[in-house]
Amino acid sequence: MIVDEQRFTLTRIGNEHDFRDQMKRDVRSGLSSEHKSLPSTYFYDDYGSALFEEITLLPEYYLTRAETEILEIFAPEIVAAIHPDELVEIGAGYARKTCLLLTAIHEREAGSLYVAIDVSEGALRHAGQNLTHEYPWLSVKGYLGDFGADLSAVPRNGRRLVAFLGSTIGNLASTQRPGFFRAVASMLEEGDGFLLGVDLIKDEQTLRAAYDDAAGLSAAFNKNILTVINRELDGDIDIEAFEHRTVFHADTGCMEQSLRARREVNARLNAIDLDVHFASGESIHTEWSCKFTREQVESEMSAAGLTMTHWWTDSEERFALALARLPLLSST
Ligand code: AVJ
Repeated sequence: MIVDEQRFTLTRIGNEHDFRDQMKRDVRSGLSSEHKSLPSTYFYDDYGSALFEEITLLPEYYLTRAETEILEIFAPEIVAAIHPDELVEIGAGYARKTCLLLTAIHEREAGSLYVAIDVSEGALRHAGQNLTHEYPWLSVKGYLGDFGADLSAVPRNGRRLVAFLGSTIGNLASTQRPGFFRAVASMLEEGDGFLLGVDLIKDEQTLRAAYDDAAGLSAAFNKNILTVINRELDGDIDIEAFEHRTVFHADTGCMEQSLRARREVNARLNAIDLDVHFASGESIHTEWSCKFTREQVESEMSAAGLTMTHWWTDSEERFALALARLPLLSST
């Protein structure tokens, strides 16, 4: 256990070795393939998590404000639909929006347990310390790990409301989402709920501004993935040689972030004994940020055995929260 205080514990899912080995495999395969790519999980070292927090405050980044608006209005309704004993948040980060659900749970149901899963130890410590300080009735259990890995390792403490906010679901490619939804479904029992935040398809201009802001934070966030890889894998990638690129794919409704080499770049990653060559103009795909429609969310959920029961949007219909459950089993 990493932290063991009275109302705040922090435990690693799996072990540090597995996480590093996974990173080594991911980076080797991603940078050796014909179309280079890096998994977006590696944005979130402590610095990357803090940078993302800054992004959520930008005027262009409407997502967090729109989602907060929905929670401010509908948190009591969400909680009343499930009556959870525990709130389990996947990809919790700094857990800034979570207090809206936690206070609604506390007021209506007297539930007092928050379980946060994230890859950033710094963000989990921050969330655990802040929330237990702010709410004397609350206990926080943090689990450090990649939500792509082992969600079933998180023990259950009564009726669950599982939340996956921020449209982080959009970071999973369409080929990864079915497995993720099935993993979530297997965390649930009858009566539990799954609350999903999704960014909705909208005009390209609004999207481009959100992912390529005037202050340059999105660019810094994207480039931080190279800083992480240089540090963790003893590499010498010249970060300044890369520029932030963002493209909207209208056919799939996905924003794509990549890093493009402005000139030819040669680099070496000592920890995995890998030499990498980038041609001038070559790109590394770093992130999908897919946008959704209600029909799409409903059908992807239903393919994993989840039934959508509610759909709430902000007043400008930029963002939505979907609530799903397992279908009721007959008691005979
Ligand atoms: C953390 C998934 C909500 O995809 O909008 C922000 C990450 N990437 N700017 C998103 C992100 C570039 C973000 N989420």
